[in-house]
This record gives sequence, C-alpha cells and structure tokens, in this order.
Amino acid sequence: MKKLIIAGASGHGKVIADIALKNGYEEIVFLDDDESIGECAGFPVVGKVKEITTLDGHKIVAIGDAKIRRRIQEEVETVTLIHPDAVIGRRVEIGEGTVVMAGAVINSDTVIGRGCIVNTASSVDHDCRIGDFVHVAVGAHVCGTVRVGDAVWIGAGAVISNNITVCENCLIGAGAAVVEDLTFSGTYVGVPARLRACE
Ligand SMILES: CC(C)(COP(=O)(O)OP(=O)(O)OC[C@H]1O[C@@H](n2cnc3c(N)ncnc32)[C@H](O)[C@@H]1OP(=O)(O)O)[C@@H](O)C(=O)NCCC(=O)NCCS
Repeated sequence: MKKLIIAGASGHGKVIADIALKNGYEEIVFLDDDESIGECAGFPVVGKVKEITTLDGHKIVAIGDAKIRRRIQEEVETVTLIHPDAVIGRRVEIGEGTVVMAGAVINSDTVIGRGCIVNTASSVDHDCRIGDFVHVAVGAHVCGTVRVGDAVWIGAGAVISNNITVCENCLIGAGAAVVEDLTFSGTYVGVPARLRACE
C-alpha cells in the first residue's frame, strides 16, 4: 500500500493530503508536535514530528516556516508532489520535497529547488531559477528569467517582474510588485515593493 507521512497537521498539510490521494497514495498519516490535534482532514495524527526518521513510508514536510521545513527535510528523504491539474512546461526541474498545488503553472526551462511550495494558482514563468525552501504563495506570479534565493516567501498575489533577482531570506508582502532587484534580505511591501524591515 502506498503510504505518505506528512509532517505538520495544518491547513497546508490538508492540501498536500488531497494531492497525495490524486497521486495514488492509499494511506496518509500526519505527525505534529501539538498533542491536542488527533486528526487532520480525516487522517490520523500518529506521533510527533521528530518520529519522521523512524517511520516507514514516503515522507513530506508540510510546515510553512522555511527554517523549520529545511531542518526537518534535511533529516529524511522526501517525495515531490505535483497536483495533476498543475501545468508543468518542458525541461522544468523540480527539487525533492517540493509541492506544486492545483492550478499552478511552471513554464519551460525553469528550475525549482528543494522543499519549495508552489501554491494554488501561482505561476513561475520560463527560465527562472528558484532556490531551496521558497514559497510562491497563492496567486503570486514570477515572470520570466527571475532568480530567487533560498527561503524567500513571495506573498499571496505578489508579482515579480521579469529579469529580477531576489536575494535569499526575503519576505515579499501580499500584493507587492517587485520591479527592481532586491539585494538586502528583509520584508518588502507595496507597489512598487519597498523595504519595510531588515531581516
Ligand atoms: C508583509 C507582512 C509579512 C507584514 O506583516 P506584519 O509585520 O505582521 O505587519 P503588520 O500587519 O503589523 O502591518 C504593519 C504595517 O504594514 C502594512 N502592511 C502589512 N502588510 C502589507 C502588505 N502586504 N502590503 C502593504 N502594506 C502592508 C500594514 O498596513 C501596516 O501599516 P501601518 O503601520 O501604516 O498601519 C504581511 O502583512 C504579509 O503580507 N504577509 C504575507 C501573507 C501571505 O501572503 N500569505 C500567503 C498564504 S498562502
């Protein structure tokens, strides 16, 4: 029986469970450190996150915080999950432990790193280089030939214009429009996006 162990009994975990079912998984269990959570989306929570190293089955980390996601993912081998209604172009590479949600579009010759979230109805266009543990949130759009460093969070509905470079550990607020390179790690908001706080 094809079994998936999901670390993180969260809303994000629920969406991953749906994708897993559509990818032929027959058994799904969650791990979470909050002992008060007994189930998630109808699937049992069977232990704490640290137990992920001891259990048999395919594994994925469903935790939004990039630092935590990275720490857990570096202890185990994880699967890559792609919703069948995502559109993936030719010559696209998608790293281990990355999830691609429904309605996402990733266009030709783009590389997506490890442990990323390409969330619902977002897009990453052609020739992009997206680092590890990046979150392209719901409805965000990354135009062509963009470079995004590790652990960047691109907020819901944000847009990164073409040919832009975003350095690691940036948080781009919901609805922001990034129209010039971001060379300092920090939080950027607005149209055009401006630095609001340093990392
Ligand atoms: C940018 C962000 C991280 C700031 O969070 P925060 O530090 O808690 O900021 P606050 O909510 O305290 O707001 C501080 C100020 O920034 C403004 N602000 C917050 N988010 C903003 C945004 N996305 N765009 C423009 N201004 C924003 C607030 O209006 C407030 O302004 P004020 O000081 O004039 O009242 C957050 O608002 C955000 O956009 N997060 C992304 C959420 C997201 O995309 N989720 C996706 C889930 S899939």
